[in-house]
Amino acid sequence: MAVSSDIPIQLVSASPAPPHDALARPLRDLRISVIDRCNFRCPYCMPEDQYAQDYEFLSKDQRLRFEEIERLARAFVAQGVRKLRLTGGEPLLRRDLPHLIEMLARIPGIEDIAMTTNGVLLPKFAQALRDAGLHRLTVSLDTLDAATFRTLCGGRGEVAEVLAGIDAAERAGFAKIKLNCVVMRGVNDAQVLDLVERFRGTGHIVRFIEYMDVGTVNHWRGDMVVPSAELIARLAARWPLEPLQPNYRGEVAERYRFADGAGEVGFISSVSQPFCGDCSRARLSADGKLYTCLFARLGYDLRESLRAGASDEELAALITQRWTRRTDRYSEQRAELRARGEQKHVEMFAVGG
Ligand code: GTP
Ligand code: 5AD
Ligand code: SF4
Ligand code: SF4
Repeated sequence: MAVSSDIPIQLVSASPAPPHDALARPLRDLRISVIDRCNFRCPYCMPEDQYAQDYEFLSKDQRLRFEEIERLARAFVAQGVRKLRLTGGEPLLRRDLPHLIEMLARIPGIEDIAMTTNGVLLPKFAQALRDAGLHRLTVSLDTLDAATFRTLCGGRGEVAEVLAGIDAAERAGFAKIKLNCVVMRGVNDAQVLDLVERFRGTGHIVRFIEYMDVGTVNHWRGDMVVPSAELIARLAARWPLEPLQPNYRGEVAERYRFADGAGEVGFISSVSQPFCGDCSRARLSADGKLYTCLFARLGYDLRESLRAGASDEELAALITQRWTRRTDRYSEQRAELRARGEQKHVEMFAVGG
């Protein structure tokens, strides 16, 4: 059958049924960490003073090369993945990242490519990212207050740099940018209304994330979590809010719109309202390990098979095998697992959140 040349190739590619895990969740999203280094030292992720002093970041050789990332991405797409998100550490520290995006954007079957960044390098890279085919951008921004910002980036940056990054992204054509704010009680929770006020009406979407016990180094305490219900009540008292339906099944953020039409906000409540039931996310670390949960202890080494010459079929079989055995639902079991003292998880900066 002749295919009209103006139909994008991804729309006509075969769409295999994705494997389902042991809890009947399909594999749909792949989050790819391209580097474990970061130019920030956020206390909730890699605190300067205590993130394992002897931590050895990956060497160039240990990291997957772009061709290897592409090869694995194709194998995941063949298993049903439709959405890619690039993460770090800070992904823009990876040299030539727009080139990787170009390579990934060409894979038939990919419907969405996004990236999560701390934003300071966007003035340099936003246009190249857009030109390379990046669809969506998420920028981490925890506060507008200059002093609090310095605390929350470990003294490595200025809030003005991130705001300049967001401006650059807008100029490059990114719209509806998501702005992720990790809320910590007593640190930045008094500043959430300012953040919302700044971005209401711009089309961008501020999302508040409950501080999570990811990794092993952030000394998480339950009393530092501000439950989303509390934030929603505070926001709604100032600007009435109306709930919105999720954009897709398994979306991590709960969405609300401002009743006056000034846009939307989101809440990611992995502590107070875990969302493991619909979790379709796999994570690939920069050294090629497959993690089936953000809180996993161990990853499965795909790089070894890749470098040993595994065929596409063999890679696909390995991915399916890991996914079909998956039983992870850490956030739903948090209390129980923590009580048992099971607190060894992969670090956040190694799997990119
Ligand atoms: P879109 O819905 O595609 O825009 O992306 P996203 O919200 O899934 O991605 P983003 O990187 O912005 O994630 C937002 C926050 O939610 C980050 O802090 C992530 O660590 C957290 N998060 C994302 N996925 C999961 C998950 O599967 N489990 C938990 N517990 N947290 C997650
Ligand atoms: N709790 C919640 N969110 C976190 N992030 C990093 N560490 C934590 C944590 N401990 C967020 C970042 C970024 C995303 C990738 O993960 O702010 O937006
Ligand atoms: Fe870097 Fe993001 Fe971790 Fe902050 S949260 S240290 S910006 S990887
Ligand atoms: Fe998915 Fe694990 Fe997060 Fe639950 S805790 S939503 S299983 S990544």
